[in-house]
Amino acid sequence: MVIVKAKNYEDMSVKAANIMAAQITLKPDSVLGLATGSTPEGLYSNLIKKYEAGELDFSKIKTVNLDEYKGLTRDHDQSYYYFMNDKLFNHVNIDKANTNVPDGTKEDGEAECARYEALIDSLGGTDIQLLGIGGNGHIGFNEPDESFIRDTHCVKLTDSTIEANSRFFASKDDVPKYAYTMGIGSIMKSKKILLVASGKGKAKAIYDTVCGPITPSVPASILQLHPDVVIVADEEALSLIK
Ligand code: F6R
Repeated sequence: MVIVKAKNYEDMSVKAANIMAAQITLKPDSVLGLATGSTPEGLYSNLIKKYEAGELDFSKIKTVNLDEYKGLTRDHDQSYYYFMNDKLFNHVNIDKANTNVPDGTKEDGEAECARYEALIDSLGGTDIQLLGIGGNGHIGFNEPDESFIRDTHCVKLTDSTIEANSRFFASKDDVPKYAYTMGIGSIMKSKKILLVASGKGKAKAIYDTVCGPITPSVPASILQLHPDVVIVADEEALSLIK
């Protein structure tokens, strides 16, 4: 595991974008595993800046996103499909046909998750997987559990995640209760992992991920077993690591 210490959120965003940009430059037809949430927003705006400056070409890039809320249509402004278009895809020369997000409108969760897992495999897996981390150590929507779940699956969101995500919805009751998410195995298949974290609220999760035992009660702790992980985190998120 390589840990890159950033001063603050802006610095974290620049440093993480540089790593993603290097991946796109070195392998212009990369399969990027992408994440949503507040943390990667700055990374995405830095990628857009680099594209506008003529430094990056997304024309051969393919993407697969980690997760999607079950029940939200693609035009819902809190769907992760909408987020990705709004924060990145609409601003760069990516072919939208090459972008993939689980389809939250599909009622048959088993079929949709099987389709998505097969899609990841058909692309040869991801070259780099971007991850945020929940305050409870979740990655994607893999919540603390008694065992690691391998493949893309439907998950019931925990109360702490619903609470954390309610800031984006009119009320807590409007937050979907279920989501489709890549599993731990789908994430671990990536050739490289780039995890970004910012702020004090992530300090305990980062400490447990890096220094704690490998346990499904801290899903991100499994990353200790991956051969190529870079964590880019700011001083606050790294504050418990001596
Ligand atoms: C989003 C995702 C989640 C977030 C995590 C942190 O696609 O997979 O695991 O990365 O909930 O969210 P933020 O960045 O909003 O703190």
